[in-house]
Amino acid sequence: MNSKKLYFTSLLMLVLSIFTMMFGVANASASSTDNSVQQIKQKGYIVMGTSPDYPPYEFIGKDDGGSHVYGADIELGKQIAKDLGVKLKVKSMGFDSLLVALQTKKVDMVIAGMNENPQRAKSVDFSKSYYSSDTSLIINDKDASQIKSYKDLAGKNVGAQVGTIQYDEIKKGVKTAHLKGMENVNDLILALKSGKIDAIPMDTAVAKAYASHNTGLKIIDAKMKGVSSNNNVAFAKGAKGLVDAANKTIKKVTSHNLYIKKYVPEAAKYLADNKHTSSAVSMWQYKGFFISGIEYTMIISVVSVFFGIILGVIFALMRLSHNWLLHAIAVCYIEFIRGTPQLVQIMFIYFGLGTIVNVPALTSGIIAISINSGAYVAEIIRGGINSISDGQSEAALSLGLSKHQSIKYIVLPQAFKNIWPALGNELVTLIKDSSLASVIGVGELMYQMRAVQADTYQGVAPIAVIMVIYFVITFTISRIMKHLEGKISHGTND
Ligand code: ARG
Repeated sequence: MNSKKLYFTSLLMLVLSIFTMMFGVANASASSTDNSVQQIKQKGYIVMGTSPDYPPYEFIGKDDGGSHVYGADIELGKQIAKDLGVKLKVKSMGFDSLLVALQTKKVDMVIAGMNENPQRAKSVDFSKSYYSSDTSLIINDKDASQIKSYKDLAGKNVGAQVGTIQYDEIKKGVKTAHLKGMENVNDLILALKSGKIDAIPMDTAVAKAYASHNTGLKIIDAKMKGVSSNNNVAFAKGAKGLVDAANKTIKKVTSHNLYIKKYVPEAAKYLADNKHTSSAVSMWQYKGFFISGIEYTMIISVVSVFFGIILGVIFALMRLSHNWLLHAIAVCYIEFIRGTPQLVQIMFIYFGLGTIVNVPALTSGIIAISINSGAYVAEIIRGGINSISDGQSEAALSLGLSKHQSIKYIVLPQAFKNIWPALGNELVTLIKDSSLASVIGVGELMYQMRAVQADTYQGVAPIAVIMVIYFVITFTISRIMKHLEGKISHGTND
């Protein structure tokens, strides 16, 4: 017994040290000499990370088939790419993931209305400033008499985007405020409109954009002193070549005042042309978004179920095996996966594993979800097999069947009847959980819902739409599984 425990502990230690090593390798590679420009030129494109919930800097809009990221920062990104002689690829994610993405090489630069500050400068390098803005508060019209500056936020519910300087500023500056951090500015606006929070601090240009697209909202000067106001492009630490290249572009752009005179007005014009006033927009116009969401959700689910079942069978057999090593490996895998949140696993695969091999978001999502599902499927299969009493196979053996025959004809068919419904549940769970992949920017249903929310400034309708879509998918699948289950039990009773 004790020696068994020892095996398990040492195996777990092994797993942990592999993880630590992975990070060691990743960090070591970050400090090597600078050939950043060369690498970009070889690739032929530069990846810009951004959080497109910040109009007019960056926001999601429609194009023919689906969604597209627009904004003044995107124009700057394009110019930097052009001057480097490469293409621009835009990768969207939560604002708080951007610097991590830079450090883990998921993106080559970050342009996201981001201000340079000393904390951030510890982990990344910044270009010169390309724009500057200050912070405003966005509030409900009805509170205008009570909230006049950020000092009036004492005791109030304040919402801020996590990872922003505004969030930190409220946290430090107004200790008695009840601060609610959210990842997406669109969610903050919804919370404000429904009275869950009283104010949101954000960059002034952005506050203006949101206020002009939502009735009943007002902006006031936050009068927050000491908040840095320079917007800069961020690069991985040590990427001096890229910083220099960006500085050259920024010098050109600022000397012609392009950002202010061209990029921002163009973005503002796009926003105004596509201005939707509340309920006037029909969700039908956004069917392209939802259809592409369904496609991704189905791709993730079908591929992950396939690999999940393969992994599940392998690990169930390993766990049932008499070989202690196979058994121990299976126990570690199953317990570790079941003991950690799937969301964390997805982020780990994307950011962590991604530092060694560059795995695209969709593949990372599929890998993480398959590995997760494998652990649950393994337990379903093991449970199904264990539920058949030993008496059954003993009886089979005494009737003269070989061990192999008794498993094939007696144990497995009965176990399968127990396994099938549980597998059906697992499939439904997996479809629902595929929505977690939206955190790393996979364009599945949940991600598309956010895109529609952002483009229509409507909070609830897109949620209702994907809820119905998920239900139709999962209900159909449950029905099909039930139908097949009936067939199977019929078959075995014959
Ligand atoms: N300027 C603020 C900061 O640097 C907020 C930026 C938020 N950007 C975004 N794309 N959501 O912290």
